[in-house]
Amino acid sequence: MKKLNIQDIKASKNIKKLSMVTAYDAVFAKLFDGNIDIILVGDSLNMSFANSSDTVGATLKQMIYHTQAVCSVANSSFVVCDMPFGSVATRKKALKNAIKVYKQTKADAIKIEGGADMADTIKYLTSRNIACMGHIGLMPQVSRAQGGYKVRGKDTEDTKALIEDAKAIEKAGVFAIVLEGVKADMAADITKAVSVPIIGIGAGTDVDGQVLVWSDMFGFNDGFVPKFVRVYMDGAGLIRENLRQFTTDIQEDSFPDKSEQY
Ligand code: KIV
Repeated sequence: MKKLNIQDIKASKNIKKLSMVTAYDAVFAKLFDGNIDIILVGDSLNMSFANSSDTVGATLKQMIYHTQAVCSVANSSFVVCDMPFGSVATRKKALKNAIKVYKQTKADAIKIEGGADMADTIKYLTSRNIACMGHIGLMPQVSRAQGGYKVRGKDTEDTKALIEDAKAIEKAGVFAIVLEGVKADMAADITKAVSVPIIGIGAGTDVDGQVLVWSDMFGFNDGFVPKFVRVYMDGAGLIRENLRQFTTDIQEDSFPDKSEQY
């Protein structure tokens, strides 16, 4: 698979649907590299990796550490580092932290949650050569302030607001937008309203691509699995079954065998 660049991603709209998955470490990023268009080092790591109830606690230091690990093996997939809560609170802070990500990792771009309210900050970064992916709709970083996770686009007024958000950040220079937790027919309208690709998560099929969190899609997450996730394998079952086998092998003295000893 040829590594996409910003221009390829923009040009894919209406031509080819984009695939994106999260990764937080070198082990999985190595498997994903070249088999997926974009790897997102998402702040969802705070939930799927650190078992927190939301993404708010993720720090820039953690995002840089995990992005470094992913970039150390990702040669053929485009890598995006999520900017955690608070790290883009002001334009100046956003630029300082985005430069930190660019200097300390090989990430191809950063991702920023926020619509029209963040357009000014996004413009400040894109005009200084920081590639930005947007993220609108259900935004996990505002879940505490809004009292939970709420599906968006339930009425025409909300859809109008989301179209305004998408247009504002497109004008500010984002090369693609994640659209999370939006009613499918409304997501289709939002997708038609802008010329940059819309990458959906829980936003139906009439978008320009899809993203999922790797531990959800590969069945490593035994707990609550959101409705929009397709679980492609029983990762948790595989691990447990093989760990039981390992314990049996130890107890039966069949591990290690001769070939596994010095
Ligand atoms: O943090 C993340 O993994 C994300 C995706 C859910 C899009 O933002």
